[in-house]
Order: sequence, then structure tokens, then C-alpha cells
Amino acid sequence: FSYRQSIFSTSTLPYDDEQQGLNEQITISFSHVVAENTPKGIAAEKFKELVEEKSNGRVVVQIYPNSMLYNDENELEALRDNEVQMIAPTSSKVTNTLPNWQVLDLPFIIESNEQLKKVLNGDTSKSLLQELERINVKGLTFWNNGFKQIASTSPIIEVEQFKGQRVRMMSGDILQEQFHLLDAKPIAIPFGQVYSDLKNNIVDAQENTISNIYSKQFHTMENHITLSNHGILAYAVMINEDFWNSLDEEIQTIITDSLEEMQDWQFERAELFNEENLSYLKANPNVNIYELDEQTKNAWKEKLNPIYSRYEKKINSHYLEALLKEIR
Ligand code: LMR
Repeated sequence: FSYRQSIFSTSTLPYDDEQQGLNEQITISFSHVVAENTPKGIAAEKFKELVEEKSNGRVVVQIYPNSMLYNDENELEALRDNEVQMIAPTSSKVTNTLPNWQVLDLPFIIESNEQLKKVLNGDTSKSLLQELERINVKGLTFWNNGFKQIASTSPIIEVEQFKGQRVRMMSGDILQEQFHLLDAKPIAIPFGQVYSDLKNNIVDAQENTISNIYSKQFHTMENHITLSNHGILAYAVMINEDFWNSLDEEIQTIITDSLEEMQDWQFERAELFNEENLSYLKANPNVNIYELDEQTKNAWKEKLNPIYSRYEKKINSHYLEALLKEIR
């Protein structure tokens, strides 16, 4: 379709500059899977605005939201093939390629926005981004989308209520393990397919942030939402490495400066989005919102407890220890 054309025709338009010929226009295609009116959607827009402004229009960022070009299953491959130059997948979606990344999927480790900010801007995250070099991808930064909640077609409050529920999950071993420990039936489904699978009664529940639930209208089918805050949703902002290396230093600096400039803003906006969207859901008489009391939350934690030692044994104790140190 028409978007593809603009991506695959390499843009070498001469840039209107004194050094015409040397400075060709550079197009960065940025693909993502969520709606525009979300913490990631607006972050991509802000990034575009800053980079285009700082480069005086020499760099153009084209954003393709809503899985219109690539979905969870093929966006990393598209990035590695330089079919798009930037993506910002949820960290969980990198775990099949780089298992250490599963540390960010461990439930009930990060429990406040403050801790989340520390972790996503800290050394553990930097090491994870560096691991991307192994697959010829340059990791730039992490963006935030807060905490995951449980949205379901019937109430899931007591931990026993997970039993037998078909739960949509992002692909990833720890997430799968999590739902197995809860006696649910996890099914890995790309984000762009969740709405239709709910409509077709293929799944009963999912874990996601309020902004993702609200912006995709999942609550119209999953009208029971439990505010469990059991896991985090973080985005790894990444760029094709060959493309990155082909950029002159000035442009590279414009990109990293833009990301740095908007980092705190992105975190604040993510919190605000989730708060605001939650207030809309609370005001909706068709949606039931539940909080977990201390005792119930502890029952969830107890059920999930074996997951930590399994991660340490199977994957890497170093990252878990480092992460815990960062938030204590
Ligand atoms: C999901 O698949 O539910 C999320 O990772 C979507 C996103 O990018 O926030």
C-alpha cells in the first residue's frame, strides 16, 4: 500500500542548503504498534518534532503507528533489515532474542513510579541496551508506559480466579511462566490482533497498561479491570546500527540530544496518560474497577514467588541483583 512505497524508495532528495550535494535529506521511518494518543505515540511525535527542528528539516521522521507497517512478530526483523530505521518495542518482545531482558518482566519487583524511573534510566537498563549490539541494533533509551493491570471478561481479583482463563500475553518466557504459575492458559498474540481475538472470544483476559486498554477500547469487551500493578511496561527505543553508523556525528548528536531533552517529559506524560485514562474508565458505568487489598496482593505474590529463583538459575542472577540494588 502507499506507505510502503515511501519507505522502500530511498530518499536522496537534495537538501536546500549551501552545502547542497553533501547534505542529503535523511528519512527515519519509525514504526510502532500502539495508538497515537498514548505514551509511546506522543513520544514518537515529540521525537519527530525535536529532531526535525534541531536539524532544520534535514532529518525527516516518518511515524507509522497502529501496526500499520509491522507488528510484534516482524518489527525487530524489519529494523534489522533496515526496512524501517527505528522502533520502540516493549522490552518483553526482545526477550526471545536476548533472554537477559526478562529481568524487566519479573512481577512485583518495581512497585512505584520513582523506582521505575530509576531503573529505566539506570545502569542495568544501559547494559541491556548495549546487548542489542549483538544483533546489530543500537539501543538509544527506554521510554515508559507505567504498570500493567489485568483486564478481563469476568472478575479476576482473588488469585484463584486466574484458573483456566485464556490470557493474552506478549511473547516471552517469563510472562508465560507467570501465567502458568497462576494456573491460567497464556496465549501469545501480537498487540494488533488483540481486539479481534477478544471479539471472537479467543481470549478472556490480558495484562496491559490502562492507556493501552483505553486507547484500543479493550474495556468494551474486558470490562473488569483489576489494578494489580504487578508488572511494568517499558519501551526500548532502538535504531538500525548500520543506518546509525552512516549518520554524521552532528545528526547522531541531534538524535541523542532530542531523546535526552524529552526523557523526563515522556515519563511524566506516561503517568498522566494512565491516570487520566483511568479516570475515564472509572466514570464509565459499564466498567468495573477493582483494587487489590494487601492480603490479596500477598496471595498473588506468593503464587508467583518461584519465578525469581527460576530466572536467576536459568538466565542471569547478575541482572536481578543489580536491579534490586538500584531500587533499594
Ligand atoms: C502489548 O503488546 O500489549 C504492548 O507491548 C503494546 C505496546 O507497545 O505498548
